[in-house]
Amino acid sequence: MSDSTVYRASTTAPVNIAVIKYWGKRDTALNLPTNSSLSVTLSQKSLKTHTTASCSSSYSGPDSLLLNGEPEDIQSSKRTQACLQLLRRFRKDVEAKDSSLPKLTDMPLKLVSINNFPTAAGLASSAAGFAALVRAIANLYELPHSPTQLSLIARQGSGSACRSLMGGYVAWRAGSSKDGQDSIAEEIAPVSHWPEMRALILVVSADKKGVASTAGMQTTVETSTLFKARAEEIVPKRMALMEEAIQAKDFPKFAETTMKDSNSFHACCLDSWPPIHYLNDVSRAAMNAVETINRRAGELVAAYTFDAGPNAVIYYEEKNEKLVAGVFRYVLQAVTGWDGEYGSNIPLNDRGGLEAKTVMTLKSGVSRIICTGVGGGPEQTDEHLVDERGQAVKV
Ligand code: DP6
Repeated sequence: MSDSTVYRASTTAPVNIAVIKYWGKRDTALNLPTNSSLSVTLSQKSLKTHTTASCSSSYSGPDSLLLNGEPEDIQSSKRTQACLQLLRRFRKDVEAKDSSLPKLTDMPLKLVSINNFPTAAGLASSAAGFAALVRAIANLYELPHSPTQLSLIARQGSGSACRSLMGGYVAWRAGSSKDGQDSIAEEIAPVSHWPEMRALILVVSADKKGVASTAGMQTTVETSTLFKARAEEIVPKRMALMEEAIQAKDFPKFAETTMKDSNSFHACCLDSWPPIHYLNDVSRAAMNAVETINRRAGELVAAYTFDAGPNAVIYYEEKNEKLVAGVFRYVLQAVTGWDGEYGSNIPLNDRGGLEAKTVMTLKSGVSRIICTGVGGGPEQTDEHLVDERGQAVKV
């Protein structure tokens, strides 16, 4: 009699926002970066992907993925295929050592995934998505691999995903070997080391969809005259500075390095040909506001950073909540999101000395606020998105 058991495992995985940016690949097939990067994992209360991995010999193949209720074409996604192949290979090793284990590798996979935030907000959904996919399948296959070992797999789905397998403060070491075996992520400090780190995200609506990061970074590698110095000299020095800042919980040093690195990344984008513009007037108003807040405080109490889009992520320490987030709360009172995770505690400040034009631009361009902070890595859960009969659960 054939076994029709539905095997299931579920996890949630966080978003991470880099403070030293990954931008550029030295090997596109293996997804190896030109430089190391470092990120802060964000709390899953505000942003997470929830994924159930299931398999059963009763499933009619091929492997499938339902993302936010829509089927995704994973058959033609080389990146997803690379992850699935590697995970099956690892499971095969486990099965080879213990013949009593069910042969899960022979069964089709049914993957169901949901984000607790709109994918369209441009908030690193691929990082949380691939981290959750890899973690959920590793749980299903009962792989003994550590998060760092699994980061080798997630990296091949999306580079930044390898940093979402861990919580707190995470470095992705670029590595130098051709096969990428040393291109791995590692937690450099847990959440408990510096739990006071907060992140205020200003979601900015873009007029049009920007250049996708995979294509954008290739254009930069091929054409930017600034890029070589960034990858070879500037980032290695900054990685060391950033690690020191985090170990010492030195916010001014963390902030200066974060802002300089975001600016260096966007300068390389602008220096690419054709030029790549991710920042818009609202992003620049957010930078201006942070600079004004810092000037008024007489020290660096806030740090902005921007990924491949106009959204601003502003890091600050809890003790400076009023000085930083309180000003944005005053200016953006009418915007939704202040009732979120840390938002409701933020005391209202004054306008913070921001120029009228900055205030106007922020008011008209910020569509949503997310008040979050540093958080932990993936969490296993019994809330399955596939029922015992193998049907996707309606959510
Ligand atoms: C600007 O990880 O999305 O967010 O590896 O091609 O999937 P692929 O790129 P992706 O790039 C993210 C770039 C960034 C900076 C960062 O997160 O470090």
